[in-house]
Amino acid sequence: MIHFNYANALRSEELQAYAKLANECQEKTLQGTGAGNDFLGWVELPRNIQNEVSDIIATAEKLRQSCEIIVCIGIGGSYLGAKAVNEFVGNPFEWLENKDTPKVVYAGHHLDAKYHQSLIQVLKRKKFGIICISKSGTTTEPAIAFRLLKSLLEEQVGKDEAKNRIVCITDAKKGALRTLADKEGYKTYNIDDNIGGRFSVLSPVGLLPIACFVGKEVEQLVAGALDMMKDCQHGFDKNISAQYAACRYHLYSHEKKSIEILTNFNPALHFVGEWWKQLFGESEGKEHKGIFPSIADFTTDLHSMGQYIQEGVRHLFETFISIKQDNYPLPVLDDENNLDGLNFLTGKTMFEINSKAELGTMLAHKQGGVPCLQVAMDKADLFHLGALLYFFENACAVSGYMLGVNPFNQPGVEAYKKNMFALLHKPGYEKESIAIQELLNSQQ
Ligand code: PA5
Repeated sequence: MIHFNYANALRSEELQAYAKLANECQEKTLQGTGAGNDFLGWVELPRNIQNEVSDIIATAEKLRQSCEIIVCIGIGGSYLGAKAVNEFVGNPFEWLENKDTPKVVYAGHHLDAKYHQSLIQVLKRKKFGIICISKSGTTTEPAIAFRLLKSLLEEQVGKDEAKNRIVCITDAKKGALRTLADKEGYKTYNIDDNIGGRFSVLSPVGLLPIACFVGKEVEQLVAGALDMMKDCQHGFDKNISAQYAACRYHLYSHEKKSIEILTNFNPALHFVGEWWKQLFGESEGKEHKGIFPSIADFTTDLHSMGQYIQEGVRHLFETFISIKQDNYPLPVLDDENNLDGLNFLTGKTMFEINSKAELGTMLAHKQGGVPCLQVAMDKADLFHLGALLYFFENACAVSGYMLGVNPFNQPGVEAYKKNMFALLHKPGYEKESIAIQELLNSQQ
């Protein structure tokens, strides 16, 4: 189960004041009566994807059998969901071991040459496969990575075998990736028109690279999301996802807290934070409105950002993601000499100590004027993670509607692309190329 605690941020009367608005916004999401209602395919996805899961698992199994490394190419919503889940379940030191299980690595999520060149050097000595993900099929970063790695794979194993090791996930009809995949005869999965990138973790976009890592267990992720999907159909008092949205709205509009820090005390949650950051940042940051989403990994960042959070500008609130179950009972050992003075901790597990660090931090930050929300998972498993991901997706939709923006578009993302294409003289950008050159000249 997922629990939501707002006691360190606002009083229940304050929350209840938003019940009507939150319920209306939840209804807009469920009934499809709000802005961007042609992008609500994610709402019923945990139920609708079930027919496709066994085929996804079978494709993943084929790749797992034939590859030592599976490269997942994609950016933004076509990358972060799978990365978040795989990092959460993975062993952080697996790369130091020579295990037979295939590794999932990522490419095309930036334009850095060193990263891609280093990856190519490694892949030259390995059996690898590619999952290329792009809804539009025209995004520059993954397209460049795919061009490089497709050519490497074909050189290594020939065009026919390469076909068996490439899977593309893209629009059913349009885009360059669709054209290329159809022409080459690659296995493909469709991204439905009504599912935006950042809401696509429970579609083949997330599920295939996750299944390459966890196999059949991916079903647990979907099952957890389905559980939370049902909870989100309840009224406000039983809908913790809508309550989280309402708390955010209160803190932003009433308390003038314009920055939310999603904090964790488990490094495995770092990329869940990255995924969440995209979800909320791209959904809410428009019309000069929106909470700025940021993340902190504690206790590490308590030794860097802790000072600011405790005593800096009071425009912050925090949302703690907590894990309630101790999966790794690792006690502090007794030391006869006690030179480090740590014997008061003898026998206590690292989990217990970490939990006290979390509670102590929350109380200190609250006292310092930083309201603290908490979203807690009973267990650190795929079922609970699926529920958590859906909790945030639903909250994001409700929160966007409460704020009065369309949570499902991202017009601002185009601005950098336009400039980059103008600077690179992409055909069709001639006027923009001249304009940007004039601008640069005027700055000299
Ligand atoms: O959430 C979004 O819509 C974006 O982050 C996209 O996922 C990202 O820009 C990648 O787009 P595409 O899948 O079309 O390559």
